[in-house]
Amino acid sequence: MTLLGPEIQDLEPQFPSHRKRNHTISEFIPKRHGPPLTRRSVTMDLERLYSTNMKNTKRSAIRELLKLTEKEGLISFGGGFPDPGVFPKEEIAQITAEVLAAEGNSALQYGLTAGNPRLRRALAKWEAAQGLHLGEENVIITTASQQGLELVSKMFIDPGDTVIVELPSYLGGLNAFTSYRANLVSIPLDDEGMKVDLLSDKLKELHDLGKMPKFIYVVPDFQNPAGVTLSLERRRKLLELCYQYDLLLVEDTPYRELRFEGTAPLDLLALDERGYVISLHTFSKILFPGMRLGWALGPREIIDKMELAKQSMDLCSPSFTQSIVLRYMERGLLEPQIQRIISIYRKKRDTMLKALEAYMPKVPGMHWTHPEGGLFLWVTLPESIDTEEMFTEAVERNVAYVVGKAFCADGGGENSMRLNFSFPTEEEISEGIRRLAEAVKARLG
Ligand SMILES: Cc1ncc(COP(=O)(O)O)c(C=O)c1O
Repeated sequence: MTLLGPEIQDLEPQFPSHRKRNHTISEFIPKRHGPPLTRRSVTMDLERLYSTNMKNTKRSAIRELLKLTEKEGLISFGGGFPDPGVFPKEEIAQITAEVLAAEGNSALQYGLTAGNPRLRRALAKWEAAQGLHLGEENVIITTASQQGLELVSKMFIDPGDTVIVELPSYLGGLNAFTSYRANLVSIPLDDEGMKVDLLSDKLKELHDLGKMPKFIYVVPDFQNPAGVTLSLERRRKLLELCYQYDLLLVEDTPYRELRFEGTAPLDLLALDERGYVISLHTFSKILFPGMRLGWALGPREIIDKMELAKQSMDLCSPSFTQSIVLRYMERGLLEPQIQRIISIYRKKRDTMLKALEAYMPKVPGMHWTHPEGGLFLWVTLPESIDTEEMFTEAVERNVAYVVGKAFCADGGGENSMRLNFSFPTEEEISEGIRRLAEAVKARLG
């Protein structure tokens, strides 16, 4: 009261008599008119207003199918979810409390667009341990790798630009590119990843047509959806083609660290000598996705441009989770966490492969990939089976998958499906594959 000037004190009686008690926000908000939003419908022509990019962003038919899977007792191989049993909840709870106590003011504040510099340095160090030498300036923190894909699209795609993708490829990548109106050209893959000989032919053809792509998009390690890994020889060939035709190469590698066996071929960024590669990474699968944190690596010029593109997207990735993951890394907890995940997912992968072998009918045309890591495998069925048509029958038998067509930019893939093995338990995997095999047998008649 003493702080108020006399003229203000004079006004005091004009305040409501209950001035001393705490007010709720709503007391200061004038009453709104009109029906509640839940009962209001848009009376203007929105189609006229939506941008062409938005119109080009399609709701996936697969999402509609997956709605059917919200059913009691259903075993889903559909999502790409990590096993929540591996989330290090206690360690994160402790570190979160420490972050709040020690650096709460900055951790809860806006941060730099490029990310927490200490985290960028920690990631550069982490990459150095994997054999890749780079500095903080080659790293930008992203709001997980899906934002990396959005940034790449925003930076490089003009309507009608050609982008080369794998067949099949990651749906979230395809959606990001087409929402910027890219023209997608698919190159099939086999057990060694993208067929670079076919790519070479296609590039020659596109070159002759004057439709050179802006970039090539690959998921080189334990690919989503196929589970296959691009061989070292093909990686080298891919880079050569990029140099020959002056194309950027976008490597999206969320699963690279989750290798169950064998030796990892060098990543494309490490093999590149001429600054042609952007590499997208994420904490989603090696820690947990709820943090929404990832990082992109590349030549400084590109990282600087990414920072600019990111500014108008979200200003910065969450400072709070960056502080948490930084402490987690500094404490040396990430490596053992990855080892824990690997040992659990390896067993699940083995269980799925064993169940497929045991239950699936042995008919021509039926085969599946044998991933050496990651979260998925890809099943190809005889051509007579359309997995979209079979979907409701599978759901009736209480099992679900993602139809292969969803991942095929050329509209094919009818007789294929993606199966996830990280989320279901081992018991669910065995039982789910048994049910799936029953659905396949019923289709085969
Ligand atoms: C190949 C690939 N890229 C990107 C993502 C996006 O992941 P996030 O945004 O959680 O990092 C995923 C998710 O499954 C993926 O499989």
